Amino acid sequence: MTANIINGKEIAKDVRREVKEAVEERVATGKSVPGLATVLVGSDPASGMYVKMKQRACNKAGINAFHIDLPADTSQEELEAKVAELNADENVHGILVQLPLPDGLDEERVLQAIDVNKDVDGFHPLNIGRLAQKGRTPVFMPATPAGCIELLKRTGVELEGANAVVLGRSNIVGMPVALMLVEHNATVTICHSRTKDLKGLIQTADVLVCAVGRPEMVKGDWIKPGAVVIDVATVKVDAPELEKGYKWVGDVAFDEAMEVASAITPVPGGVGPMTIAILLQNTLKAAQLAD
Ligand code: GUN
Repeated sequence: MTANIINGKEIAKDVRREVKEAVEERVATGKSVPGLATVLVGSDPASGMYVKMKQRACNKAGINAFHIDLPADTSQEELEAKVAELNADENVHGILVQLPLPDGLDEERVLQAIDVNKDVDGFHPLNIGRLAQKGRTPVFMPATPAGCIELLKRTGVELEGANAVVLGRSNIVGMPVALMLVEHNATVTICHSRTKDLKGLIQTADVLVCAVGRPEMVKGDWIKPGAVVIDVATVKVDAPELEKGYKWVGDVAFDEAMEVASAITPVPGGVGPMTIAILLQNTLKAAQLAD
């Protein structure tokens, strides 16, 4: 078997086009232009790059992008005061504080300070709490896990009753994606660094979502024939055989998995582009909620 490649770039492009059209439509009827505020504390280059990509995507979708750069020695009180200011700003519909925060800042307190109706990252404890409860709907779902689910849905993967295995239990991806899979009536197993018989459990997966950032740890013979594989990790590794000297890989040994799975996301070009697409969707929703 050779797996179908789940083209996250194309699917994300579709989502972004849908958002752009909806923004144009609402603005044409006199409604407000959606606005996203990004907050970056410190000068981590990777975080800086992610934030720039988010701003650029907003501009392309017709969404206003506001950016606040704060120095690494910003105090907890200063950061929370900035969040309060953005909460009160009616031109700002969504607020995203880029994570991780520099040492010394209390992430949970900052996330809790964001107005739950502007929490386009879906990390506010109330949104995560609702995700964990049956019959309760969060205002927003976190973008990367929601992106995984959107890829599965738009690829026509049946989640109802499927055995889903999630590798990783992070707040940003593993745990929320597991909750979303339960919400879609999958039977979910969460695996992590202390899991016994990891290979045996992964072999039970009809749907496998990997998000631990350990380059190519999941081998081809760990994968159930016909499984659908979503690889969230993007890790830069040395590749002396290539002119540029490096390449990006995921948690799954892609070439091996291609021979066993029925469908798989590539790295890059799989889940990555979906994160920003869902963030735009969430920002549009935040503006609609404020109408
Ligand atoms: N850092 C890594 N992923 C994310 C994300 O989705 N949102 C925020 N705010 N920070 C991140």
